[in-house]
Amino acid sequence: MESTAADQLRDKVCLITGATSGIGKAAALALAKSGATVIAVARDPARGTATVAEIKTATGNSHVEVLIADLSSQASIRLLAEAVQRKYDRLHVLINNAAVVKSTRTVTADGLETMFAVNHLAPFLLTNLLLDRLRASTPASIFTVAAPSTVQLNFDDLQGERQFSALRVFGATKMGNLLFSFALARRLQKTGVTANAYHPGIVRSNLMREAPAPMRLFTGVLNRFGSTPARAVEGMVQLAASNANGVSGQLFHGVKPIDVAPYAHDEQVQERLWAASAQLVGLAG
Ligand SMILES: NC(=O)c1ccc[n+]([C@@H]2O[C@H](COP(=O)([O-])OP(=O)(O)OC[C@H]3O[C@@H](n4cnc5c(N)ncnc54)[C@H](OP(=O)(O)O)[C@@H]3O)[C@@H](O)[C@H]2O)c1
Repeated sequence: MESTAADQLRDKVCLITGATSGIGKAAALALAKSGATVIAVARDPARGTATVAEIKTATGNSHVEVLIADLSSQASIRLLAEAVQRKYDRLHVLINNAAVVKSTRTVTADGLETMFAVNHLAPFLLTNLLLDRLRASTPASIFTVAAPSTVQLNFDDLQGERQFSALRVFGATKMGNLLFSFALARRLQKTGVTANAYHPGIVRSNLMREAPAPMRLFTGVLNRFGSTPARAVEGMVQLAASNANGVSGQLFHGVKPIDVAPYAHDEQVQERLWAASAQLVGLAG
């Protein structure tokens, strides 16, 4: 008899960032419904606690916990990783999902441009800090929620200091998610840990609430044709159950890999971004 996603997820520990809204909340709910242990990461304690209570009530799964972290702060990400390591000796699924869109250039407490810090550096740092746990829990899988971005990075101005365009900087962070996932997959070959990016499609969510008006208007129109978060995460939950069928280094949409711009597969670019990111978060490259 074929095993279902629920059979495969029942004993798995899954961490998801940005669990209080949109795609992250839908994924946390679906994983909990399948019986997984879910670590829901939230920046706001009240929203995080309310989300977890809602998921527990809806699913009857008591193994759902909120951990609080502000992913714009590297100190907070390090505390989060320590808490995960202290509380869980296994981690089978890591979903880097949280992201933000800003209309103007803002900087984090660490002095970094906010979208670059939350959307790209946070997944980079959190994943690296949790890699030992994932390696000890094989088969394990990492998903970074991204999009088929075609934006090429400007390594002389990665954080939009000289020239800021919200659309470009956001697009660059989504390209960063692809470059990071593919470089990570190469490092994790033959370890039993898969690393992929996941494109949810156009989804009705809160993502554009702080975006510039034209971007908000445009996505507002697109969103009319968008799917619900619940629908958008179905593929990712199936992939989490099957460890992406052993496939690594791809951008998935649903349960199928899709094409990305050739630039995302450029190993030199991937390694250049890896080195720059490692330096900015204080990790050995
Ligand atoms: N929506 C789409 O059409 C679409 C398409 C392609 C890719 N994506 C990707 O899907 C992912 C999820 O986006 P979404 O559409 O579900 O957006 P969303 O509804 O705005 O959810 C974003 C989540 O990230 C959290 N977050 C933001 N900044 C944070 C921080 N500093 N620390 C901790 N958590 C933080 C938010 O927390 P709060 O609840 O506290 O705000 C929220 O839970 C993103 O990576 C996005 O790029 C979305």
